[in-house]
Amino acid sequence: MSDDSLYFSGAFPNTRLRRMRRHGWSRRLVQEHHLSASDLIWPLFVIEGGNNREEIPSMPGVERWGIELLVAQVGKAIELGIPAVALFPATPPEKKSAECLEAINPENLICRAVRAVKAAHGDRIGVICDVALDPYSSHGHDGLVREGYVVNDETVALLCKQALVQAEAGCDVIAPSDMMDGRVGAIRRALDEAGYVDVQIMAYAAKYASAFYGPFRDAVGSAANLGAGDKRTYQMDPANGDEALREVALDIAEGADSVMVKPGMPYLDIVYRVKQAFGVPTFAYQVSGEYAMLCAAAERGWLDRDKAILESLLAFKRAGADGILTYFAHDAARLLESAVG
Ligand code: PBG
Repeated sequence: MSDDSLYFSGAFPNTRLRRMRRHGWSRRLVQEHHLSASDLIWPLFVIEGGNNREEIPSMPGVERWGIELLVAQVGKAIELGIPAVALFPATPPEKKSAECLEAINPENLICRAVRAVKAAHGDRIGVICDVALDPYSSHGHDGLVREGYVVNDETVALLCKQALVQAEAGCDVIAPSDMMDGRVGAIRRALDEAGYVDVQIMAYAAKYASAFYGPFRDAVGSAANLGAGDKRTYQMDPANGDEALREVALDIAEGADSVMVKPGMPYLDIVYRVKQAFGVPTFAYQVSGEYAMLCAAAERGWLDRDKAILESLLAFKRAGADGILTYFAHDAARLLESAVG
């Protein structure tokens, strides 16, 4: 539709836009964007001890699950039609170190979790695993630290090995969240050489150095490790938009199957620009801090929780996202099941 037809097809009183809004059936007919369970990816946290469960105070309603309980949670996702889960390990502190070697241990928590989920559920749901060192590092950084600086190339070599143990465990999608340069290409080559040509890469392509990750760092237990440190030498400056397009272009050129923008709601302009510019499968991550904000307001009775959840997720679709990683995935899928009109 040209701009002309949009603006000159008629003026008031011939045109009354409220006419189409008057009835529920009519609103439904002209709805431009739709949210369904198929748009959702559910991040889940895993801990040691099969039947353990732990609440996360800064993420009310989200828990860390022992592997057996995790498998059951994934079963709930399948029942609700959620196509994929993203699994994150809360590594026991004694397994963390400066060199992060637990990340490449084929028997580490995440690999055991992936194997268990795949053994129980097979191809009925996709399993996504982060590639980054922060769950394993005593300093809380996503990469190896040399003289106070997170070094790139040495980190990338380790990330490739981490991707391989996760692929070997049965992970369907490798999601590098570390923001090192060149890691997507290196991981793609490593996967291909090992025969994992069909393991996808979902690149955290435009990932910002954000204050909204705080509750996640509580959840995986990296907050204390990072302390007063920050990730600004590798994650993006929230002031930058054009740079996100360069990040995405590089990750696509290096072989990413899909790209992600993160955080979500404060960065919808980036989601929109990425989708417009590249037209590739584009995901957005409604991160832990966004989850915590909505929950906190709803708990106080300041927001209608259910409506705010669905509106926030639909906004991602309007901006152009193909899917959304959200801690509300389970709640939203249930709401969508019962919603009509
Ligand atoms: C780790 C990682 C983070 C998130 C996903 N993967 C935290 C960080 O980069 O510090 C954040 C997710 C969230 O806040 O929900 N690299």
